[in-house]
Amino acid sequence: MIGAGYWGPNLARNFRASPDWDLSAICDLDEERAQRVADSVGGVPVSTSLDDVLADPSIDAVAIATPARTHHPIVLAALRADKHVIVEKPLADERARGAEMVAEARARGLVLMADHTYCYTPAVLKIRELIADGFLGDILFVDSVRINLGLIQPDVDVFWDLAPHDLSIMDFILPGGLNPDTVAAHGADPLGTGKSCIGYLAMPLPSGAIAHVHVNWLSPTKIRQMVIGGTKRTLVWDDLNPQQRLSVYDRGVDLALQSKDTSTDTRAANISYRLGDTWSPALPEREALAGVAAEFAGAILERREPRTSGESGLRVLSVLEAAAGSMQNGGAPFPIATQLTQR
Ligand SMILES: NC(=O)c1ccc[n+]([C@@H]2O[C@H](COP(=O)([O-])OP(=O)(O)OC[C@H]3O[C@@H](n4cnc5c(N)ncnc54)[C@H](O)[C@@H]3O)[C@@H](O)[C@H]2O)c1
Repeated sequence: MIGAGYWGPNLARNFRASPDWDLSAICDLDEERAQRVADSVGGVPVSTSLDDVLADPSIDAVAIATPARTHHPIVLAALRADKHVIVEKPLADERARGAEMVAEARARGLVLMADHTYCYTPAVLKIRELIADGFLGDILFVDSVRINLGLIQPDVDVFWDLAPHDLSIMDFILPGGLNPDTVAAHGADPLGTGKSCIGYLAMPLPSGAIAHVHVNWLSPTKIRQMVIGGTKRTLVWDDLNPQQRLSVYDRGVDLALQSKDTSTDTRAANISYRLGDTWSPALPEREALAGVAAEFAGAILERREPRTSGESGLRVLSVLEAAAGSMQNGGAPFPIATQLTQR
């Protein structure tokens, strides 16, 4: 385990509890932090030297939970020391760096997994299943809101800090993954922190559908909600409502075309509203990171891509980088690079 700050202890606890793993060492530049986490999981050797950890031939894999700007050098060093790697979101702080990490892992036949934690929650697994089974019909829109009083990060803006969650979820649940051609982004920094603290992303999806993400570090109310509208049903995921995280609405708009108006060469739409039942699927209570630890082991042992691969991390970075391009162009839609990101 490399990085024992805010998030690292959660990974350490789950790797320690996993039947698939022996937790060999906790490494942090801050020895006291590493020791505190080591003590909390029942005693594990600590180190302040990444080089020492990577030189240990008994270590097969590393989990990296250090700040985003350090992911690229630490991941490359770990891969070059022949370790499989799981790294926190965002995969890297630049798309080109992420692409280099993915290429390095591929060339060496090592697993590079992104910790897209939400993709292992019972709610997101259920959403993916419902969409794949055609329960919602064709997707018309996805609207994701993730707002809170958040920590203003030293190295990344609100897009790179929070939107990887929404984008990785969309990549996981949408049939064919998240592969929009363009993204339009608006960011705001009303406190003058030097980076966007409020952000909006809009991405056209196939067949005229649209995905929207709203992330915000300055909101006193916490909202974590995703609405997924389909031709058959609409699903609302409220992650802060454990009694009813998912609600499926058998409601929507039906559009029947009337006869063609030959004088204007247009068709008038006949709109009707379906007002059916609302249903809430039962979900198991399971910690997502236990699934993350199991998937990382499974990918290594079965020599396969993990469910949230380095490539999926790269697709997220492609959107984030294009979003920065859009903001430099006044919010105009900006093309998303697709090289090395197709499924
Ligand atoms: N998956 C999630 O839901 C989730 C939640 C929170 C944070 N994160 C991600 O986890 C990562 C870490 O975030 P955090 O909030 O825990 O940061 P943090 O600043 O609290 O902790 C980072 C730790 O890494 C250590 N560190 C830095 N460089 C190091 C190096 N070269 N070798 C060893 N240790 C080093 C620091 O000393 C610090 O203790 C970020 O990428 C963040 O986006 C993910």
